[in-house]
Amino acid sequence: MANVTFSSPSMPRDVTVYAVAGDNKTLLAVAQANKLGVHFECQNGECGSCLVQVKVLGTNRPMGIALTEKEKTVLRYAGKITAKQIEDAEVNDMPPPWRLACQFIVRHEDILVTF
Ligand code: FES
Repeated sequence: MANVTFSSPSMPRDVTVYAVAGDNKTLLAVAQANKLGVHFECQNGECGSCLVQVKVLGTNRPMGIALTEKEKTVLRYAGKITAKQIEDAEVNDMPPPWRLACQFIVRHEDILVTF
């Protein structure tokens, strides 16, 4: 179980939902299931329209770090991730600040999603 808090200037207040760990749902799927207005187009890690900021809350070791090759390419092209941040994610388990909601798999950890 993970608490996923969505925050956006387009919403009257922050909304926290509970995601069941092990469902392998993407962040975008969690947002859609709860009728939250995260923008999207391709849903396939190619257009970058689902760009969100993700902050890991709590003190547990971050888990939802894995970046797909598509996500790395789109984030690099958008100027939202550096080679160093990719290395830190892959080698040092340090989550990068920007993610694609359609590629991010929700894990056990509590996160704050800003869009
Ligand atoms: S919806 Fe296109 S990259 Fe996520």
